[in-house]
Amino acid sequence: MENNNKTILIVEDEKLNINVLAELLKDEYKIIVAKTGKDALSRLELSKVDLILLDIMLPDTDGYSVCRKIKSSDRLKDIPIIFITSKNNVDDEIKGLSMGAIDYITKPFSPPILKTRIETHLKLVEYSRRLKNQNKFLEMMVEKKTKDITTTRDMAVYSMAMMAEQRDKDTGYHLKRTQSYILMLCNQLRENNKYTNILTDDFIDRVYKSAPLHDIGKVSIPDKILNKPAKLTEEEYEMMKDHSYAGYETINSAAQIIEQNNEFLNIAKEIILYHHEKWDGSGYPEGLQGENIPLSARLMAVADVFDALINKRVYKDAFPEEEVTKIMIEGSGTHFDPKLIDAFFAIKDHFFEIAEKLKLIR
Ligand SMILES: [Fe+2]
Repeated sequence: MENNNKTILIVEDEKLNINVLAELLKDEYKIIVAKTGKDALSRLELSKVDLILLDIMLPDTDGYSVCRKIKSSDRLKDIPIIFITSKNNVDDEIKGLSMGAIDYITKPFSPPILKTRIETHLKLVEYSRRLKNQNKFLEMMVEKKTKDITTTRDMAVYSMAMMAEQRDKDTGYHLKRTQSYILMLCNQLRENNKYTNILTDDFIDRVYKSAPLHDIGKVSIPDKILNKPAKLTEEEYEMMKDHSYAGYETINSAAQIIEQNNEFLNIAKEIILYHHEKWDGSGYPEGLQGENIPLSARLMAVADVFDALINKRVYKDAFPEEEVTKIMIEGSGTHFDPKLIDAFFAIKDHFFEIAEKLKLIR
């Protein structure tokens, strides 16, 4: 380690002691001298100091209070302080070290030992600084890599969802809208202190990101059913209902190949499989009831139905806003989770704004 660019501040009032220390260290370090505590603090304001040799008995104050002031300053607290003093009882040593000094050397001192200790402490500071920088660099790298992986995943998910939706002539534009409705509902539920134990930032992010996959199973539904401009027959409806299980199977098979237990895929699977379940148990595919339906799927149900009502579909016209609100509220406790409908009702104007704003955005 190169020492010549390191600066040592000697805080000492005895001329003889100053000369001994300066003579000992001047060839290897830049030396600054302060004869009082006040002088020491103003020197520290003006110069970059790497280590401080601090006497305890000073003309204006004692070394302990100088040490305390240095350690309470964000800018100075990491500068190592070595007390050099003739006070040589154990209590003084304990007091000095407990204030954050890294060493306590009594006078008269052995010059080679003092030099070695100074060198050791400067090395420690340098290693700790390098380690901090290295950790910061590694954290940045991990953050960047994680962001890259997340972006790739999000793009893959969105591409899959868009490909699946492209065949469906009407609903091809609703991915962004349903994501926005879900986000608004989550925020409102948190504001109402509902489901706060589930609605963590991570959960909301996962639901938001995986929501576009909810109808991915529609790739298995024939065009003549998917785009039929009339009400489906009972048989066709049964085939249409298969899309939730078909989508779930696709993601589940992929999940088993890639990774068994991934929270993002688990939430995607919940949404895909259960987004047509109803609060009163009359939905499909499993007829789950109430809170047995995962919250992710209950959120999706509200967003999906709202979007279907407010927009035109091949089999129906768009409903007026009053009618949509009426149907959503009537669905509270039958089709939908009442707490979610309370949240919807509180922010329904925002729902209609999003529906309008994102009308033509895929
Ligand atoms: Fe669906």
